[in-house]
Parts: sequence; C-alpha cells; structure tokens
Amino acid sequence: MRSMTRPGPLLHVLAILALVVPAALLLSSRDVPAQEGDAGGRVGLTLADWPAGPAAARGRVVYDKYCVGCHGSSGMGDGTASRWLNPAPRNFQSGNFKFRSTESGQLPTEADLMHVITCGLAGSAMPGFPLVPEQERRDVARYVMHLATLGLGQREVRYLMEEEELSLDEIRAEHLEVIRAGAEQRVASVKTIPIPVAPPITAALIAQGKQVFDTQCAACHGATGRGDGSSSYTLRDYKDDEIRPRDFTTGVFRAGSTPQDLYLRLRAGLSGTPMPAIPGSDEEIWAQVYYILSLRDPDAQTTYVPQVCGGEDPQR
Ligand code: HEC
Ligand code: HEC
Repeated sequence: MRSMTRPGPLLHVLAILALVVPAALLLSSRDVPAQEGDAGGRVGLTLADWPAGPAAARGRVVYDKYCVGCHGSSGMGDGTASRWLNPAPRNFQSGNFKFRSTESGQLPTEADLMHVITCGLAGSAMPGFPLVPEQERRDVARYVMHLATLGLGQREVRYLMEEEELSLDEIRAEHLEVIRAGAEQRVASVKTIPIPVAPPITAALIAQGKQVFDTQCAACHGATGRGDGSSSYTLRDYKDDEIRPRDFTTGVFRAGSTPQDLYLRLRAGLSGTPMPAIPGSDEEIWAQVYYILSLRDPDAQTTYVPQVCGGEDPQR
C-alpha cells in the first residue's frame, strides 16, 4: 500500500514539468502585444496599474455583485453568461457606448450611464436596476467609466509597445502618468448634444420624415421599417458580430422611446454599430423621429417601463 502513495521519480518529473511548462509559456508570451482593450490578458495594463478613486472603488463592489456575470471581471463583456446573449454584453474597455448624449465617437456622460443602469436596455438582456440605491448606481457608473479609461490606456500602451518598441515595464515606469492624464482628459472633454424643444407632431412633418427615411434609412431599416432592408442581413458590429437594424413596428427602443431619446440616438449614432450619426437640421431630425414613431404597429405589445424611467404609473 505504501508504495502506491509514494510517488516514483517519473511522477516527480511530470509534476515539475506540469509546473514549469505553463510558467515558461506564460513568460514566452510576454512580448505579444495586447489585443484592443485587453486588460485581463497576458500583456498590457491590469486593473492594478489603474488605481480607482473612492467612488469607482465603491462601484467595483457593486459591479462584482450585479454586473460581473455578464460584463466580466475586467469589464470586457466576457462574463460567464455572455456566450448565450445576443446582443453580447458591452465590453467597456472597447470604448464603444451606443446610447449617448455625446458626439459621435465620444465616451458617454455619467447621466447617460445612469439612465442605462437604472432603466436597462429594452429588447436586450441588460436589466434595469431601479431598486439599487442611487448612490450605488452612481458609484457603479463611475466604475464603468474607470474600465473605459483603462481601455483607452490599454490602446496607448499597445501603440507604445508596437511602434516605439518600449517594454511594458518601461511604460509603467515612465509613461503611465501621462497616459492616465490623457484618458481622464477624454472623459472631461466630451461634448453633450443639446436637445432642442420638440415641435408639435403634424402630418406634414411625418411626411417629410418619410421622404428622408426612404432615401437614407430604408436600405437598412426596410421600406416599412421592419428592419429588413436590402443590406440588413449583411451588417456587422465592430467585433464582427452580426447585427440587425431596429424593427420600428415593435415600438421597442433600447434606451428609451420618447422623441427626445430618439433625437439623441439619431444625432449621436450608435458607436460600434453600422447605425450612423445623422446629419441635418433639427427640423429634419424631428421629422424622422416622428415618422419612426408613426411606424409602430398599433397592436404591438407595450413593454413595462418603470416610472423613474418615464413609464406610466402601474394601474393598480
Ligand atoms: C444579464 C446580463 C447583464 C447584466 C447582469 C448586466 N448587463 Fe449591462 N449589458 C448587457 C447587455 C447584453 C448589454 C448590451 C445591449 C446592447 O448592445 O444593446 C449591456 C450593456 C450595458 C451598457 C452599455 C450602454 C451603452 O451605451 O452601450 C452599460 C453601461 C451596462 N450594460 C452597464 C451594466 C452595469 C453597471 C451592470 C450591473 C449593475 C450591468 N450592466 C449588468 C447585459 C447585462
Ligand atoms: C447602415 C445601416 C443603417 C442605416 C443607413 C441606418 N440605420 Fe438605424 N440602425 C442600424 C442598426 C444596425 C441598428 C441597431 C443597432 C443595435 O442594435 O445596437 C439601428 C438602430 C436604429 C435606431 C434604434 C435606437 C434604439 O434606441 O433602439 C433608430 C431610432 C434608428 N436606427 C434610426 C435610423 C434612421 C432614422 C436612419 C436614417 C436617417 C437610420 N437609422 C439609418 C443600421 C442603420
């Protein structure tokens, strides 16, 4: 019996190999540049390189409780549930935020994040958290922004490694402060899009909206707005995942369906998707908003929207 419990020399060798080989592989992969926004990966900045302020640090606790299962431990959209979800949870480090009040290509404001976190994204797996105390929602919004700035830093690091051939240690020692300041600057310098007063809905305005829609939107969204235009089946997002244009007959919009919500969607575009920011006068934008809203099938089911998110009082 004793000889069976005592490992022979061969087993010793195997055990040592089992420890050494992965370590060697890990070391040899050191010089591989990080993928875009890659923090959890082998090379590149980690959360430890990117100290969080007090609000973001509190937010991390909230995040680990409610968000990590979908958005992943370093916010890269790779949580355990993510493989079953379409659309996939957002990779915060990618810097692509769809539902913003800021100009095309910019990061969202804290208010934009608060809206998504409080109200969720209708028609996707992203739940709303209206019952989580406001302070916790604010903190977790700050943490999301922290992860987004880490992603910005990550891209800068990759550039310095690839183009300037600096090592990660050199970058950590000499460049990290500047990289951080640059990322903070990107957060501080966003421009919010003002929402003008909405004009009254008229048949003339809706007809004007239809005209623009037929030429600028129908190829993707379809002649009747069902999301089935001629190019709708070939569209892909920035990750090369298939993506379909919105079906306007359902009346379901991800981040709110008031005219003001839709005004911002059109003006700002949806970053990381083929949905572009739409140019034109305010009147032209309102015309399209009203036309889209007019396409809703009167029999479409209404979705429940919490009152804090602009929904009706429950009739009970
Ligand atoms: C059940 C899975 C799930 C959970 C839990 C979840 N999310 Fe999401 N989240 C998603 C999905 C899916 C999307 C992408 C929807 C889309 O692309 O339209 C998303 C998108 C987002 C966005 C992107 C908004 C934008 O403008 O692009 C933010 C911010 C966000 N989630 C924050 C959070 C926070 C904070 C938590 C925790 C408090 C959380 N999510 C919990 C699934 C989840
Ligand atoms: C190149 C294709 C393309 C064109 C052109 C296009 N869209 Fe889109 N649009 C999309 C895709 C794809 C989505 C869905 C993005 C997603 O699910 O994240 C979308 C989503 C939307 C949404 C939904 C926002 C929400 O909150 O759910 C609105 C509104 C919209 N488009 C309006 C328009 C209007 C109006 C035009 C023309 C002026 C237009 N789109 C032109 C591809 C396009």
